[in-house]
Amino acid sequence: MRFDILSLFPEIFDAFLKSSMPGIALEKGLVRYCLHDIRDYSEDKHKKVDDRPYGGGPGMVLRCEPVVRAFEAAAAMDKRPARAIMLTPQGKTFRQDMAADLAREERLLLLCGHYEGFDERIKEMLPIEEISVGDYVLSGGESAAMVVVDAVVRLIPGVLGHKDSAGNDSFSDGMLEYPQYTRPAVYRGSGVPEVLLSGNHKEINYWRRKEAEKRTCARRPDLLDSGNTQDSE
Ligand code: ADE
Repeated sequence: MRFDILSLFPEIFDAFLKSSMPGIALEKGLVRYCLHDIRDYSEDKHKKVDDRPYGGGPGMVLRCEPVVRAFEAAAAMDKRPARAIMLTPQGKTFRQDMAADLAREERLLLLCGHYEGFDERIKEMLPIEEISVGDYVLSGGESAAMVVVDAVVRLIPGVLGHKDSAGNDSFSDGMLEYPQYTRPAVYRGSGVPEVLLSGNHKEINYWRRKEAEKRTCARRPDLLDSGNTQDSE
């Protein structure tokens, strides 16, 4: 998969894209990351990318011209059409099922904003979806784009070592993940549930399913109400 990331601070992505799962995906040759500096596309002699909002008010707004030019230039760099996403707090809330959907694309373009946001005409002019990573305001879309890249790359076939690892994750079946334990079997007097030491995989699966349900019920009942749990029994 090819990722095109458009930002005013592309250097923020350097360490992130080389590390952990995004880095593993890169090393395995399963992804390519192409970073674009929006400022390079400003025709202003001072490379200005923002301006004061019409009607007054605080902050600065990202101007149409450098953003649209950067978008069009990046889109034209590969013949595959890109599914384009703008990171903004006004977007549709990012969820695991969206990550799975995006992981099936051949190419994603992520547009990160800064300051008070984008000139509204950019969204009208470009074929782009708006995604928010949660109901809070970040100072820029870069950390939101990292959330999207991270959640997506780990779902690309071949990125994770064990073929089932992503299938057990929280949200993958509409529920939170069951509790996990590793050695030692007793730590400071606290033991591991007996069933996990039993070697009986049918019982282990049943226990895990029940624990996932209990935890989801207690912490995120909204997930159960949303009707997207899959019945594995
Ligand atoms: N930019 C600023 N806040 C954001 C959010 N919550 N999600 C995505 N992009 C953002």
